[in-house]
Amino acid sequence: MAIEEIPLAHALGAEIRGVDIAGTVSDADIDAIRKAWHQAHVIVFRDVAWTPDQHCAFSRRFRDLDDHAATPHDRLDGYPELLEVTNKPKNNQPSQTRNAGRNWHSDYSYTNRPAASSMLYCTEKPPVGGDTMFCNMARAYDDLSDKMKDIVAGLQSVYDFNLVSGTAKRDPVKMAELLKLNPPIAHPCVRTHDESGVKALYVSERTSHFDGMTRAESVPLIQFLCAHATRPENVYRHQWRVGDLVCWDNRTTMHLALGDFDSSYPRHMLRTTLRGEKSGYVVPPQGVG
Ligand code: OGA
Ligand code: MN
Repeated sequence: MAIEEIPLAHALGAEIRGVDIAGTVSDADIDAIRKAWHQAHVIVFRDVAWTPDQHCAFSRRFRDLDDHAATPHDRLDGYPELLEVTNKPKNNQPSQTRNAGRNWHSDYSYTNRPAASSMLYCTEKPPVGGDTMFCNMARAYDDLSDKMKDIVAGLQSVYDFNLVSGTAKRDPVKMAELLKLNPPIAHPCVRTHDESGVKALYVSERTSHFDGMTRAESVPLIQFLCAHATRPENVYRHQWRVGDLVCWDNRTTMHLALGDFDSSYPRHMLRTTLRGEKSGYVVPPQGVG
């Protein structure tokens, strides 16, 4: 049976049906899924029941997996390829990822290997809410005027781990280690997708400034670009069900974990990260001004 693609929103997002991703998936189906993923930027599989090993094996069909050495505390025990995004206590301590993703971002933008894609699997969710929103950064780029396209083409976005959401609530010792592992790094503000060739904006709420410009000069433009990219008509909002696998392309999208739920209920997700190309250069920390 051929795979089916059901659009989820106008700007991005498609549900994929007609393939059992926990079973044996043919190379032809992987190619078809990859093609649908490049077109929709975010793809969703429903009712997936699988083990951590199956999650890793399916993810590996698309690309090598990141071992998450940039965020070593958040990995599932015994599975460095699986990041735990959870509000459940870990080793009797509050989870470090309980507030993860609460500002618009692309995964691992603060590293020298920004994530190519991510595959997030829901194992537990609150009765209502806990949604995730996605926006299309290729469309956001296309919709800019030619003059603005020229301006952003010359910019390097600096990503600062301090701007990752929830850092104030992280363990200070672990936070210091993360800052040391991930110093501020500059990446091109416009990136060309290494598989599809599509151009997309690469700037987010974790961008502190543009390299060579002051924060005062940079912030209005960062704010404009983020507001432009996250207009409601450029967004898909995912309402999770247990057993959903949501896969997004970090090269052409940003996402936001809304936190629109009662945190006394568990919300538990596991994520593989498809490793990206090496990119960027470390920049000295910059003060306000
Ligand atoms: C992530 C992330 C979003 C969410 O896993 O990269 O940002 O809704 N999570 O949990
Ligand atoms: Mn994320």
